[in-house]
Amino acid sequence: MHASDVADDLVEVLFTEEQIQARVAELAAEIDRDYEGKDLVIVGVLRGAVMIMADLARSLKSHVEMDWMAVSSYGSGTKSSGVVRILKDLDADITNRHVLIVDEIIDTGLTLSWLTSSLRSRGPASVEIATLLRKPEALQMPVTARYVGWDIPNEFVVGYGLDYRERYRNLRDIGTLSPAVYS
Ligand code: PRP
Repeated sequence: MHASDVADDLVEVLFTEEQIQARVAELAAEIDRDYEGKDLVIVGVLRGAVMIMADLARSLKSHVEMDWMAVSSYGSGTKSSGVVRILKDLDADITNRHVLIVDEIIDTGLTLSWLTSSLRSRGPASVEIATLLRKPEALQMPVTARYVGWDIPNEFVVGYGLDYRERYRNLRDIGTLSPAVYS
């Protein structure tokens, strides 16, 4: 769907489909350059990263293995517990391989902080992060992302994989959700 299909639900469009595609292509070019000649596994964090994984992987000019992880916060607690449970682990053995975790947003940083440590303990050659969006004001854990599409304000954004109650993931653009939708 396009932003025009859900115009009443959005306060504004932050990034259009064209802007997103252009930025993802720029990130892919950087990744191609940095990992030239290296054995790279890109790891998408389900489910939000499906869109950026698909677009980023297709923009790369080099061979890359695509793998997936699904994680969730422990129990009924909120993410602020900082404890994460693996729902689906990698299929790939990442020993001595270069790993790039791909996600669509770093919010508090808890998910990727934990995931980075977890993957580093498996003996990879390196672990880096690529994220389309980052909310510096929301960060609670130090997370260093090597590739960042854009820093954004601490607002509720949807689209391009980002959901509100499983809706809007299939929105091609990224927009700020109207408080009327979630309040
Ligand atoms: C989102 C996003 C990141 C995480 C970032 O996933 O895909 O993985 O939250 O938030 P954090 O920096 O505060 O940890 P979510 O848990 O919403 O699951 P989803 O990808 O299935 O939507």
